[in-house]
Amino acid sequence: MSGLSDALLQALREAVGEAGLITDAERMQSYLSDWRGAYRGQAAAVLRPASTEEVAAVVRLCAQAGVALVPQGGNTGLCGGSIPDDSGAQIVLSLTRMKRIRAVDVANATITVEAGMILQQLQEAAAEVGRLFPLSLGAEGSCTVGGNLATNAGGTAVLRYGNMRDLTLGLEVVLPDGRVWDGLRGLRKDNTGYDLKHLFIGSEGTLGIITAAVLKLFPAVRSLTTAWVALPSPQAAVELIGQMRGLCGDRLTGFELMSRQSVEFVLRHVAGVSDPFAETHPWYVLIELSDTQPNAPLNELLEQGLGAALEQGVALDAVVAASDAQVRALWALREGISEAQNHEGPSLKHDISVPVSRIPDFIERTDAALQQAFPGVRIVTYGHVGDGNLHYNISKPAGAEDGAFKAQAEAIMRVIYDQTLRYAGSISAEHGLGQSKRLAAQHYKAPLELELMTRVKQALDPAGLMNPGKLL
Ligand code: FAD
Ligand code: MLT
Ligand code: ZN
Repeated sequence: MSGLSDALLQALREAVGEAGLITDAERMQSYLSDWRGAYRGQAAAVLRPASTEEVAAVVRLCAQAGVALVPQGGNTGLCGGSIPDDSGAQIVLSLTRMKRIRAVDVANATITVEAGMILQQLQEAAAEVGRLFPLSLGAEGSCTVGGNLATNAGGTAVLRYGNMRDLTLGLEVVLPDGRVWDGLRGLRKDNTGYDLKHLFIGSEGTLGIITAAVLKLFPAVRSLTTAWVALPSPQAAVELIGQMRGLCGDRLTGFELMSRQSVEFVLRHVAGVSDPFAETHPWYVLIELSDTQPNAPLNELLEQGLGAALEQGVALDAVVAASDAQVRALWALREGISEAQNHEGPSLKHDISVPVSRIPDFIERTDAALQQAFPGVRIVTYGHVGDGNLHYNISKPAGAEDGAFKAQAEAIMRVIYDQTLRYAGSISAEHGLGQSKRLAAQHYKAPLELELMTRVKQALDPAGLMNPGKLL
């Protein structure tokens, strides 16, 4: 039974139709916990509007009734942002029925899509018109454009194309009072005052509901080469990315770091993967070069760069993928880390960033501090070197109790975030604050920044009905 009044329920049913309203406890379940099973909540209902007008009607009704809304896309977020609290009074607003392409303007290099479109379908739509939509991440088969925007998602191609913020020209947003802001402009230049779209990008559903976006398209990739490289240290990774950038410029489109621990988890838990090398090595990077020209001499560039790195001892060993299947196999080793770590018990996720040059020191000192304070914890370090973004995830010591390990989560987090601060870093590079880092942000962000953020929230959502308990 829903806790909403009969009158509100009836009005919501009229707004979204039978197909857009779920109150049955069984059918609501998949909307109430996240991909990892790390967060679980309750809801009065799940609403699935099919158009911007329906979203606006729902938001107006909920504003009048004082009912809080939790926007949700593919529910792949990693910090509990899309999960309601456990009061059972909130409504989950799923955008997944809004997945139309509204316009493609090849000459303007833009595509306009609705927020519920799955990222992979957007990539495919771009490919159909001979273009590239470059955002690329492990959850692309189920995450949505709205979720990517609301979290300002990053992923593996940021070093060349930027994050979701950089890929967006315009937005359509249903404001907390139910009015629709039509900011769907495909302009690369517009200096008519504050750039409002940037308020909503990265706002994690706390300022309004994103319903559509104008996104940038890029020339399609026609040549690609991928290598798996063994390294002695994170310092070598920083040196190698510098050398490869100097040599390849914008053709360097992927540079992903992985510790041996990360790769071991994947080898243990993900079916069909294998170690490219006979020997084990402490660190690896996956390098991707791409070009818009067919038959671009990428292998020659790669061989030149890796040859020099091997000679200098910056790289220890390297394999270059010889087929599409091998390219996929190398990426599977990288993209499998999240899933593999889930099989090792609770994982404490920290998606920090520091200046690229500080990565080696950060890893060395934070590893040492953690091993001293929490002997035996397994540090699963991987990430997007070009963005200074490390997924510095912690798994419990082998054989330890889940409960005892979880009880240390807060103290472990403190060690990692104190180090992050010391290196002038950020406690969230790409996943956002959601529920998991909301309180930490209160501690680690500057008071003036928090004050300004709170003022923005109050200005746009004075009743506090947009995703309460998240981000701020
Ligand atoms: P959800 O999880 O549904 O929601 C995320 C947040 O956005 C919530 O706060 C929600 O309230 C809000 N929201 C959703 N839709 C809307 C909307 N239309 N309007 C307003 N607010 C909305 N992230 C990266 O940045 N880089 C990575 O490399 C990366 N890799 C990942 C790999 C895996 C295997 C997984 C599971 C996740 C990964 N993520 C990564 C996390 C990432 O945040 C998401 O995958 C994605 O951006 C979230 O999209 P979603 O549609 O699933 O959003
Ligand atoms: C990734 O890059 O794989 C994700 O952002 C990290 C994660 O799942 O922790
Ligand atoms: Zn990531």
